[in-house]
Amino acid sequence: MINMTMQSKKKLALIGAGAIGATHIQIAENSPDFELTTLVDPSEAAKALAQSRGIRWYADYKTMLESDHPDGVIVATPNTTHCDIATACLDRQIPVLVEKPITDTLSSALQLVEAEARTGIPVLVGHHRRHNPILRQARNIVDSGVLGKPVSVTAMATFFKPDAYFDIAWHREAGAGPILINLIHDIDMLRFLVGDIDSVQAMTSNARRGYPVEDTAGAVLRFCNGAIGAVTTSDTTVAPWNWDLCAGEAAHYPRQTENTHFLSGSDGSLSLPGLDIWRYHEKKSWHAPLTQERSTPHLGNPYAEQLHHFAAMIDGRESALCSSLDGMRTLEATLAIHQAALTGQTVTLGSQA
Ligand SMILES: NC(=O)c1ccc[n+]([C@@H]2O[C@H](COP(=O)([O-])OP(=O)(O)OC[C@H]3O[C@@H](n4cnc5c(N)ncnc54)[C@H](O)[C@@H]3O)[C@@H](O)[C@H]2O)c1
Repeated sequence: MINMTMQSKKKLALIGAGAIGATHIQIAENSPDFELTTLVDPSEAAKALAQSRGIRWYADYKTMLESDHPDGVIVATPNTTHCDIATACLDRQIPVLVEKPITDTLSSALQLVEAEARTGIPVLVGHHRRHNPILRQARNIVDSGVLGKPVSVTAMATFFKPDAYFDIAWHREAGAGPILINLIHDIDMLRFLVGDIDSVQAMTSNARRGYPVEDTAGAVLRFCNGAIGAVTTSDTTVAPWNWDLCAGEAAHYPRQTENTHFLSGSDGSLSLPGLDIWRYHEKKSWHAPLTQERSTPHLGNPYAEQLHHFAAMIDGRESALCSSLDGMRTLEATLAIHQAALTGQTVTLGSQA
């Protein structure tokens, strides 16, 4: 008897079967939309993994693209390879889910944006938090207008990376710190909730560990709609205030119940991930009682939601929740934090390409 479920599933290839690749494999193997048919990764571990799953394995993505015909590809390789690999897939008319950051530089991000426009084949950038039901609820609250106009936002991303993390040489070098690895997710969240960022001021510090890479950073963001944001990150603090620990997205981060992101508007405020709304119901004054309304956050796996959305994109039913343009703008704002800290100057976005 023909298994109709399997027959109707889309064929998925994963390029890059490392740390986040393992998450994608686990999600794909439980997906109602996809069947993981192919792994591309030169490592022996990936080859053995493919053999154990009975799926095809290639060491090189070009060879895979010549002989395999997946309906979609996930690119989960190092950042410097994203542009070339994703472009090669688009040129073969294959939709791509490319991990964050979209690429490693603004110019290569622009190349990928242009490749998407040239081929007409869609790209989804893996800023997976956008697919978290909590963030979708938050976006609905913002869009409902209950908070009024966005005025001020604060995001915290403070946590502790164990010493062993820095045994890997590139983790100690500039560019591998909490700004580009971690804070980029928070920047994307703020762009998703508040809108585009106009300009950035920032400072960084390596005072705790003394490596070339920063261990701590603070930035002030001006949004195009006039709102002001303040974000801090550190990977050398013992603290619960970061999305990974508090939003319950992955079991390997023991869950905390603190809020980490705070949106203050002209008519009300929202804290995340708890989804608390603060409002006045009588007079709008700091002397009047301020009420706290608790929503019940819907929990769901953002990586599974992201893959489900990718299937809908392939079918043409949905457009990318995080487009290549979004990925590029989030990267630009994040790189601007580095640039602002380095120069001590305000960096205006759109002036760096
Ligand atoms: N969205 C998230 O939550 C999240 C989390 C971690 C990492 N990431 C992103 O995912 C990407 C990969 O990060 P990681 O931590 O999994 O890295 P990793 O080093 O653990 O894995 C990368 C894998 O890619 C393979 N690889 C390298 N070059 C390749 C090529 N040309 N073709 C095929 N395979 C190749 C390597 O052998 C390795 O197995 C990065 O862009 C990173 O920023 C995203």
